[in-house]
Amino acid sequence: MIIMIKTMMNRGKSSYHNQQVISFEDIREATNSFSEENKLGEGGYGPVYKGKLSNGQEIAVKRLSHSSKQGMEEFKNEVTFATKLQHVNLIKLLGFCTEREEKMLIYEYMPNKSLDFYIFDPQRRLMLNWEKWVEIIEGIIQGLLYLQEYSRLTILHRDLKASNILLDANIKPKISDFGIAKSFESNEIEASTDRIVGTYGCVPPEYIKQGLYSRKYDVYSFGVLLLQIISGKKNYSVYGPHQNLNLLEYVSFLLLSFFFYILQNKYNLLDLLVNRLLPLVISLTNGKRLRVNFVFLNTLLMDFITSIDI
Ligand SMILES: Nc1ncnc2c1ncn2[C@@H]1O[C@H](COP(=O)(O)OP(=O)(O)OP(=O)(O)O)[C@@H](O)[C@H]1O
Ligand SMILES: [Mg+2]
Repeated sequence: MIIMIKTMMNRGKSSYHNQQVISFEDIREATNSFSEENKLGEGGYGPVYKGKLSNGQEIAVKRLSHSSKQGMEEFKNEVTFATKLQHVNLIKLLGFCTEREEKMLIYEYMPNKSLDFYIFDPQRRLMLNWEKWVEIIEGIIQGLLYLQEYSRLTILHRDLKASNILLDANIKPKISDFGIAKSFESNEIEASTDRIVGTYGCVPPEYIKQGLYSRKYDVYSFGVLLLQIISGKKNYSVYGPHQNLNLLEYVSFLLLSFFFYILQNKYNLLDLLVNRLLPLVISLTNGKRLRVNFVFLNTLLMDFITSIDI
């Protein structure tokens, strides 16, 4: 892989499969010299800038910062997976730049930002109606089904979270950030690692405790994301009567409270929530053995969506 990237670097402005090598000068021009006004945000890899190439195409440039703990490994991963994976619900990597010790990744620009922009803000949540939320959830599942079931490789994304789901001009979701993704042999059930990476709150317990990862890893992260979409709450904030529960614990607490109410015959509705939605979410975030896979999940979710008419 290193050899492949080096060869790509040495070619100057050329292309490798669908990857364009873009010069530092072109990117500098496109981003108004990496100006503050062009800055879209900043993550663990480094700052992200909006830009416009001379052919008029809008781009987002991720520039590895010197202080970043991520680096060559993540850069190579992004380029490798982008070359192999093509799906309408995955972000498209247009090219990269490695001139002057830089490691820049150039993506198609997503004008409607990432899901976290909408989920956690009570006003912005209302900008998307129920149908749009359903379409977004369906789109994310289609992307994940492709990664796990329908592409030639079995890919674990391993960093599925709201800020990594970008929305295009038509609010179509695109899964982004394959920096710590892993490909899996299709007959491999489970593997283990000593190097724990990912985002706190989105990583399944078996990975934190034993370093085990399997197809069920992304299912767990998707369950957390679904909870966040429904509740508008972040996983790592504290909730509950004593403010000491994370989102999953809080949902379990709510579920128990609902059952308590029902047993006491105080509440008789909430059939939808208690009998359908919560079991679905809990089945996603459950211990690995009971956690459903994406094919089954797709059926469950579609069944749930068609059973309610909001
Ligand atoms: N292709 C893109 N188009 C538009 N905005 C983007 C694009 N890629 C990233 N962004 C924005 O840039 C910001 C930083 O993204 P980045 O992926 O670097 O970090 P993050 O996902 O917030 O955190 P982490 O480093 O933990 O993944 C986010 O707000 C995201 O919405
Ligand atoms: Mg990201």
